[in-house]
Amino acid sequence: MAKILIDGGKPLSGTIKVSGAKNAALPIIAGVILSTKPVKLTNVPALNDVITISKVLSSIGIKASRVSNNCYEFDASGQISEEAPYELVKTMRASFFVMGPLLARLKKARVPLPGGCAIGVRPVNIHLKGFEELGAKVSIENGCAVAVADRLVGTKIHLDFPSVGATENLIMAATLAEGETTIENAAQEPEISDLADFLNTLGAKIKGAGSPSIVIEGVKELGGGEYSIMPDRIEAGTFAVLGAIAKGPIRVENCDPNHLLALTAKLREMGATIETGDNYLIASADERLKATDIKTLPYPGFPTDMQAQLMTAMCVANGTSSVTETIFENRFMHVSELSRMGANINIHERTAVIHGVENLNGAPVEATDLRAGAAMVLAGLVANGHTEISQIYHIDRGYEDLVGRISKLGANITRIEEYK
Ligand code: UD1
Repeated sequence: MAKILIDGGKPLSGTIKVSGAKNAALPIIAGVILSTKPVKLTNVPALNDVITISKVLSSIGIKASRVSNNCYEFDASGQISEEAPYELVKTMRASFFVMGPLLARLKKARVPLPGGCAIGVRPVNIHLKGFEELGAKVSIENGCAVAVADRLVGTKIHLDFPSVGATENLIMAATLAEGETTIENAAQEPEISDLADFLNTLGAKIKGAGSPSIVIEGVKELGGGEYSIMPDRIEAGTFAVLGAIAKGPIRVENCDPNHLLALTAKLREMGATIETGDNYLIASADERLKATDIKTLPYPGFPTDMQAQLMTAMCVANGTSSVTETIFENRFMHVSELSRMGANINIHERTAVIHGVENLNGAPVEATDLRAGAAMVLAGLVANGHTEISQIYHIDRGYEDLVGRISKLGANITRIEEYK
């Protein structure tokens, strides 16, 4: 079992480069199913989740080759199967992204229901309702979502909630449908615009991505092409918080600060200095941060994927802060781990109240999920003494070589593989 070991409390500074966005890469790789011509993707993050979705594509008959660390080539020109294998899908819920493109291309799809995960139940009812509205007959058979259609016909779809995954799945389903589809109350996350830009590069006709109203004019087929995945805003945000709690300055390279406005506004309110340029930001703080309050919301509100990391900053800020989580019902598992390091946090239903302490102290802790794991790394870096983080496969799902990159900022951080 691998672990991350940290001797914390050192001020950190330097430059760190952000990788391609996991949450953009996963739907975009699924979107390859829509094209029968070669597709090349660059700036793909070197993460296990990317390998998993590539394996899902291989398993249905698509040639997927990793030509270098961050570059993949795909060829979906052959015959493909409508059925995604349970063994792969169960390891990663984002595999469900293949449902929309399979339905669009083959007029049939059979994909195991992804099930919940540590942070919530995470149903896919909004995806399925949208497929039905496009003309598919949807049923649940032996744990799989099954959709079949004679034809998909464009229509007006209003989402009950601006689900990121449902918006992406429905964009992909509508790309090859007949006529025009409008998705209202669509999610506005930057990854949705990246997916639309990718599909448009291949010849799709999608307008309005990044706004609540997306219009997709169906086309008969998509061509091939090359596309570079956007930078990961959650990684960039994680490093911005690090700059604020470890004094900095930390220059976060290859990011779009416009994707991080909700976070950088809060960091400034807490007393950090955030400078921004076209594709970088620099985070630093001269003094102890001040308390603040956040509520997670769909984009452009404060991202749920950043609340655990900002909570770490709140743990050592001066005063009482609060975090209200409105997106996922069980996303406070990092609270008990932070408490083991000396944080003073109470949870009242969906709100965590954090009374800032002068210092956290190193301890053995667990990465309970991906972003909670990032929060534990930040906590270990700012804490006095030695921290050992276990269950780090969660962190590996979302951060490429996190330890290597952070150690270049002057941190005493290593990774060990334990064989028991
Ligand atoms: C995506 C991100 C994830 C992020 C989340 C919210 C990817 C691969 N993952 O997840 O990192 O935390 O957005 O920003 O991009 N819901 C339903 N029914 C549905 C779909 C969603 O009830 O059919 C609920 C979910 O249970 C959850 C909320 O809506 O409570 C938000 O989910 P959604 O926006 O769909 O998140 P994901 O696409 O799963």
